[in-house]
Amino acid sequence: MNIQTKFSDKVKDLEASAIREIFKLLDKPGIISFAGGAPDPELFPCEQLAKAASDVLLKQGKVALQYGVTEGYTPLRNWVKERLISQGIIKDGDFNETIIVSGGQQGIDLAAKSLLNPGDGVVCELPSFIGGLNCFRSYNAEIYGVTVKSDGIDMNELEELCKAHPNIKVIYTISTFQNPSGITMSLENRKKLLELAEKYDFIIFEDNPYGELRFDGEDVRTMKSMDTNGRVVYLGSFSKILSPGLRLGFTSCHKDLMERMIICKQVQDVHTNVFAQMTAYEYIKNNSIDEHIARLRMVYGEKCRFMCECMDKYFPASVTHTTPQGGIFLFCEMPEGHDSKEVMAKAVERGVAFVPGSTTMIDDKAVYSTFRMNYSTASFEQIEKGIKILGDLLKEEVGE
Ligand SMILES: Cc1ncc(COP(=O)(O)O)c(C=O)c1O
Repeated sequence: MNIQTKFSDKVKDLEASAIREIFKLLDKPGIISFAGGAPDPELFPCEQLAKAASDVLLKQGKVALQYGVTEGYTPLRNWVKERLISQGIIKDGDFNETIIVSGGQQGIDLAAKSLLNPGDGVVCELPSFIGGLNCFRSYNAEIYGVTVKSDGIDMNELEELCKAHPNIKVIYTISTFQNPSGITMSLENRKKLLELAEKYDFIIFEDNPYGELRFDGEDVRTMKSMDTNGRVVYLGSFSKILSPGLRLGFTSCHKDLMERMIICKQVQDVHTNVFAQMTAYEYIKNNSIDEHIARLRMVYGEKCRFMCECMDKYFPASVTHTTPQGGIFLFCEMPEGHDSKEVMAKAVERGVAFVPGSTTMIDDKAVYSTFRMNYSTASFEQIEKGIKILGDLLKEEVGE
């Protein structure tokens, strides 16, 4: 039988993530990959986590291996709540509820599932995170794009979109050290976005897995911290500050919406892995996660600055790049008309990989001259070698 004819409308048009397709190419021995979106594995606190995991199993195995509560392991959940309060993101006793989820990705999905009917409008940044885009596609949302400028979403363009499309219900933004661009939205634009949310009655998904990874500049207040009316769904993650393999994230939003999300989570996976939650909590209790994060910031800052220096040295002048103040990505742009997918194929032949801009766009079939570079996983030597190879290729491409 042709099983494809049975696929639901929700999933039949979803494309396999081009990033996953790219990952298949990365098995090539010796390839230098700037394509991933992962933290530096050299910095995982393996020994401390091994001790935490072993203590959990030996001392609290009967809890760790048992079913748990959907909302999350209470000590970890309380720790997250207190941290969000201490960071000024939520307030003690306000209208928000906070739960542990199986990675930030699940938070996006639960919020989308709880809010979106087919045909509802979702505005995504151009460029945006493929995991968010595919999530909204899977709920048959109408996706509109809004340009990201050097200070975040173009608010005039967004307002025009809202006027033209009354079906817009959600704006999805990665406001700090955006994936893929590395750009951070200015405070002024954050305030404007909250104003527009009131005026046009939409919900903001503030996806912030990179916010703690600042290595330059000053923190910018989250929109959640200025949310007086329950319009912001805040999405956080342990993936980039501890380990993505643990699959731990957290979500904070208005408690009435959270009630729906908890029911959806019960349907999806009953609860987040209890052993992983307890191991993370044991680690946090006995180690300084802030010291660990400070180390990540330092290393990523050094790697980012080094990659920028190498790009300035080896790339042709017409290929530009963003200069992030945190996170793990920067975004490059060739002169218009050059197709980064084609350049990517040639780059892989020469032993270097990156993510072509098309995978970060709503219309992923069009030609884009942009590409995403990750600086967290490669070593300094690989960064210099890879950027030089890429620079030579780009010079041939743009004719400089
Ligand atoms: C912007 C953004 N949101 C969410 C996620 C999902 O992260 P996780 O599910 O590992 O917490 C990622 C992962 O790369 C991301 O870049």
